[in-house]
Amino acid sequence: MATGRETASGSALQRASAQIVAVGAYVPPRVMTNDELAQIVDTSDEWIYSHTGIKARHVAADDVAASDLAVEAARRALDEARINPADVDLVLLATSTPDYPGLPATASIVQDHLGAERAGAMDLVAACSGFVYGLATASAFVDSGQAATVLVVGAEVYSTIINWADRNTCVLFGDGAGAAVVRRGTGGGIRDSVLHSVGSGAASLCRPAGGSREPCNVATDPDRTKLQMDGRQVYGFAVQAIIDTVEELLRRNGLSIADLDHVVAHQANVRIIDAACRRAGYPVEKFFKNIREYANTSAASIPIALSEMQTRGLLRPGHLVVTVGFGSGLAYGGNLIEWT
Ligand code: UT7
Repeated sequence: MATGRETASGSALQRASAQIVAVGAYVPPRVMTNDELAQIVDTSDEWIYSHTGIKARHVAADDVAASDLAVEAARRALDEARINPADVDLVLLATSTPDYPGLPATASIVQDHLGAERAGAMDLVAACSGFVYGLATASAFVDSGQAATVLVVGAEVYSTIINWADRNTCVLFGDGAGAAVVRRGTGGGIRDSVLHSVGSGAASLCRPAGGSREPCNVATDPDRTKLQMDGRQVYGFAVQAIIDTVEELLRRNGLSIADLDHVVAHQANVRIIDAACRRAGYPVEKFFKNIREYANTSAASIPIALSEMQTRGLLRPGHLVVTVGFGSGLAYGGNLIEWT
């Protein structure tokens, strides 16, 4: 699915009007290092870092839920934009670790805690691609005139759905949240988005029990309520997803990789990014990486990255940025953004 306009080369760059006017992020203060993890599961700092690029992750306290992280990140983005929460029209929350299973939407909790009195609120489940899907949705709402101000948040507490005894998965994830305020403007913005899904691979990254397919009962093996992943299958998918997304956005907009200032791919594994660059011939220095400190924060990883890049002065008006999300679904996609 392509959510931008199919246009001749370059012309899309003049028309889109949804802009990211501010970003913000929040991670819980508790840092868990690889060495700490090695005390609870059979692993090592050497293995984790050499196979993933991860050194540490932030882990939420027991009484902290996705909405708590989301509210902090959203407040920072709204403050940065100097926008009153009461002026938000829609809260879009991308998460796979909602406060409650299914209902109510965590977005409604966030809407209430922010004081976004006029806003509609809904959750968006596209796992690690959630923020990219959220930006595409926000952009469509703003471009169509359905909303003037949309808050897009990615917030995850994977520490609550990880099997801490499974070294294949527990070393990979961290908790955190990131947010973007999307508004109508001229001269730059979210130019194009592409969204895709390979649902035949759904079983390769999922929580088997706890939904309507396999409801929990007294006989349920608790491990089946936790995240399970076929790492090698997802790895192969992820490398190709980065290449396909970048190529499609470049082709649709008459651009080449040299025209991009930054690619902000989902932070799942530095080896995935490096392999995509090697295979496609992309300059790896265009790809932002911060997985070392945060591990994989799923829907939060791209807005956390954007927020860090903004704080470090790496994002400047006029920069062309491509985001790429990939993960459970298997969903993937990306956005082409002219930074404003
Ligand atoms: O955000 C959602 C998207 N998720 C992803 O993109 C993740 C994609 N997958 C990956 O990034 C990689 O496949 C992993 C990081 C999950 C695994 O890396 P790998 O290099 O593919 O390792 P492997 O699965 O091939 O396992 C190699 C060995 C195995 O031992 P044997 O069977 O060869 O004896 C594993 O048991 O490494 C072992 N191993 C570990 N050893 C120490 C797996 N996890 C660990 C660990 N510590 N944490």
